[in-house]
Amino acid sequence: MKINDGLVEKLKCELDEYLKDYMKGKGSYNKRVYEAMAYSLNAGGKRIRPILFLLTYMLYKDNYREVIDVAASIEMIHTYSLIHDDLPAMDNDDLRRGKPTNHKVFGGAIALLAGDGLLNEAMNLMFRHCIGKGQNALRACSIISESTGAEGMVGGQTVDILSENTRISRDQLYYMHSKKTGALIKGSIISAAVHASAAEQEIKKLDYYGRKLGLAFQIKDDILDVTGDTAVLGKTANSDLNNNKTTFITAYGLDKCREMCSLITGECMDVLKGLKRDTSHLENLTLFLLNREK
Ligand code: IPE
Ligand code: IPE
Ligand code: MG
Ligand code: MG
Ligand code: MG
Repeated sequence: MKINDGLVEKLKCELDEYLKDYMKGKGSYNKRVYEAMAYSLNAGGKRIRPILFLLTYMLYKDNYREVIDVAASIEMIHTYSLIHDDLPAMDNDDLRRGKPTNHKVFGGAIALLAGDGLLNEAMNLMFRHCIGKGQNALRACSIISESTGAEGMVGGQTVDILSENTRISRDQLYYMHSKKTGALIKGSIISAAVHASAAEQEIKKLDYYGRKLGLAFQIKDDILDVTGDTAVLGKTANSDLNNNKTTFITAYGLDKCREMCSLITGECMDVLKGLKRDTSHLENLTLFLLNREK
């Protein structure tokens, strides 16, 4: 990822290190599942969600290393969702983060378990984080957990699967995007604000920012599926087309999607500028996401 922001680069490096160290030396007879978990976790994701979490936290507090475990757990949940998303029963993809997908290397059964293992490890991390801390830590972790369940990411993925080979309404399409991708992105942002004891009014603004950013992120993902290059994306282009999915592209066409993406990004920028804090790093990241090529 090339983003012209030193802090974002630094946070990404620290997260990469944390996640790499985390799986080291774990397991005995069960070692294979840790290998599969580490394989996808350390394959080179952009780390957008944990970076959003840390940057939002840093709007209010400096001691970001005290919450890096929560940030790491967000990336574990996201990575589990990718492993399962790629399975033959779901999107049936062979390439992820520039490498063969988890099930291609470890087989379907271990890939399923690696996803389950990452989700549980994220919960372990968050529970341990909350021990001895106050209400805000608990509220923050509960927001993350709820954003990925059947009312969040899992709900969106369900509608995504049900949208194959059929038409869904625009209302369902918005539901799908706001849940399958938007929920964890928004959850990463507002959980951080809650953890850092932000004022309710600011949490509301960040909630709006997170909702819009999540939507723009998935529209951009749909655009890249059509316009992107497999070698650059690190995942197979035209996957949506091959699975006959309903996406923002099939509903609105490419030009309109590009226009929507810029417009929504503009709204995101306006919210950040209205916060009266140093939102420069979040602004850089927001613009980077609009212009990214992977
Ligand atoms: C891809 O997410 C899956 C979606 C939710 C759209 P990212 O684009 O953040 O993928 P990585 O983590 O960088 O690989
Ligand atoms: C995936 O959406 C969303 C989640 C993994 C929760 P996509 O299926 O569009 O993601 P990619 O394009 O495979 O990364
Ligand atoms: Mg999918
Ligand atoms: Mg997919
Ligand atoms: Mg996609």
